[in-house]
Amino acid sequence: MTVLSHMGNPKHDQPVLRIRVRCYRTTPKGRANASLKPTQPQEPGHSGSSMGEQITVMGICGTFGHDSANGHLLEMGLAACEAAGAKTVVWDNDETPLPLVGAPGSWEDPNVKAFQDMAEGADAFLLSSPEYHGTMSGVMKNQLDWVYFKHVGDKVWAVMSTLGGQSNSNTLNHMRLSARWLHGHVIPEQLAVAKVKDAFDDDGSFVDEEMQERLEKLATSLVTTTEKLR
Ligand SMILES: Cc1cc2nc3c(=O)[nH]c(=O)nc-3n(C[C@H](O)[C@H](O)[C@H](O)COP(=O)(O)O)c2cc1C
Repeated sequence: MTVLSHMGNPKHDQPVLRIRVRCYRTTPKGRANASLKPTQPQEPGHSGSSMGEQITVMGICGTFGHDSANGHLLEMGLAACEAAGAKTVVWDNDETPLPLVGAPGSWEDPNVKAFQDMAEGADAFLLSSPEYHGTMSGVMKNQLDWVYFKHVGDKVWAVMSTLGGQSNSNTLNHMRLSARWLHGHVIPEQLAVAKVKDAFDDDGSFVDEEMQERLEKLATSLVTTTEKLR
């Protein structure tokens, strides 16, 4: 269930995406590019945008549906990336699930190739995962296991997490480690949303306004760092 509106926020020049959520369902109007394919057709061997082109940020969600808390956070982060000037794409594990790495038939699964193509066409990655038993979800790790240097190496990453309990950096650090092993440049800004059941208002915005500011700083850093490194 999604009701969206762009409401002015006196603290910011950019309109802030407000999402009315009952179960965190999100298809923000501001993210028309959220599709299973890169927004621009990519030539074979193409890796990211060329000089001067708008950069593309790919969202990777730590659960199957985006109607989860971390999925909602991801959508908010991608909306903030768009406000900072990027295009965005996001993989939908509900519609196009990825097999577990090594499962029978997994190496030939067409979803895997499509996922890798989307990653190869992106310039930057925004990760959002729930913390499960002190680390990222299996869904997140499996997605990271399906990409290699040639798809994601030398690109810019940002990490976010949601937690049922107190804030900590376990999941963020573990995702940083995986991204580093993929030769990614992870920006220093990060966001952990603790006690997530109480973190969002009925309209989907953060209860704590400072969290929105941190999210926007993270998104701006992801976009500008990517532009500088391109
Ligand atoms: C299997 C499992 C393990 C969990 N482990 C933790 C944990 O170690 N620390 C914590 O703060 N919350 C833990 N939680 C709570 C989740 O982090 C929380 O429900 C999640 O961030 C909500 O986001 P989601 O709706 O995207 O799943 C766990 C939840 C599940 C289902």
